[in-house]
Amino acid sequence: MKIILVAGARPNFMKVAPLWNQLTEMPDLFEPILVHTGQHYDDLMSEIFFRDLNLPRPHYELNVGSGSHAYQTAQIMMGFEEVLLLERPDWALVVGDVNSTLACGMDAAKLQIPVGHVEAGLRSWDRSMPEEINRRVVDTISDLLFAPSMQACENLRREGIEDHCIHFVGNVMIDSLMLLSPKADESRILDIYGLSVREYVFLTLHRVSNVDCPDTLAGIVSALQALRCPIAWPLHPRTRSRLSGFGFLHTLEMMGNVKLMDPVGYLDSLKLQKNAKFVMTDSGGLQEETTALGVPCLTLRENTERPETIDIGTNTLVGVCPERIVAEAESVLNGHYKSGRLPELWDGNTAERIVALL
Ligand code: UD1
Repeated sequence: MKIILVAGARPNFMKVAPLWNQLTEMPDLFEPILVHTGQHYDDLMSEIFFRDLNLPRPHYELNVGSGSHAYQTAQIMMGFEEVLLLERPDWALVVGDVNSTLACGMDAAKLQIPVGHVEAGLRSWDRSMPEEINRRVVDTISDLLFAPSMQACENLRREGIEDHCIHFVGNVMIDSLMLLSPKADESRILDIYGLSVREYVFLTLHRVSNVDCPDTLAGIVSALQALRCPIAWPLHPRTRSRLSGFGFLHTLEMMGNVKLMDPVGYLDSLKLQKNAKFVMTDSGGLQEETTALGVPCLTLRENTERPETIDIGTNTLVGVCPERIVAEAESVLNGHYKSGRLPELWDGNTAERIVALL
């Protein structure tokens, strides 16, 4: 079987790597082809993940770059259609919920190439999130839906997707985390930034709803100012540009407790999470990784499409009101936080189950 695997943006790479590894282990059965759309293109947003995750150079690089949603999605669709027409794969596998997932899923469905969606069924019920639109559309047009939780399966059933298409396979990101956690321990990132184990907060922020709104971003910056703890904050390019545009970057640079960093790779990110006192984030992936690592996580959003990280894991939804952020953070600093456990099938074998189904 010829299988095309699509990667486009940073949160895709750690989901694609275990699938790639699994498919290449069986050369008699599978011919995997790796496509990178180029939605993310900076070395620190893309290449470094290929190195950290031991992924080969993609067979096809579409180099689409940034743009409005319509522009980016259309560029990816045009580039990926050519690849599909040339390769005529038996399956197209798309992961997650970024614009590349949507564009490539739609291309394949229209060419009647079966689509497998890895991380199907997540719902935030918040249509102001571009990712929620991507998830809903891709799930509707997919032939095999690989769901990370029973709740995700239930969401799909309620939307009328036939039972035989839905498979509860577990969380593929955790395959990468379990494989590479020992290697992440060797990262020197704490020494480089002078951070001590359990004596800093690890922060990431990139959601449009948080960083594109000056009032929301100002509130978050004021909360950081009130925290009496070092904060390690690698800046996503979108976030750096908004902080700079709204005039907050200088204030942050002057704050003694905030260490602004360039974006970090996969191994450095794991090292920073594993050794943090707690994590503050608006990322979906970090909500899951902190639950897998047993590290407390405060999510700076009003909702999450990953409820098991709250019901079972170490995650708490905090929202973006500065007073609430400070109160929750101080409570963790004073030793009050949830201890979670691993959700079902977060066992490092999700890619194996997906490939077995294929
Ligand atoms: C995208 C995904 C989001 C995911 C996030 C992870 C969509 C709709 N959004 O959002 O779900 O959580 O990736 O990072 O697909 N830029 C660079 N270098 C890069 C990439 C981007 O400088 O390598 C800058 C560009 O100025 C660009 C901006 O970052 O305009 C935003 O990039 P974009 O890919 O549009 O969205 P993200 O915010 O990264």
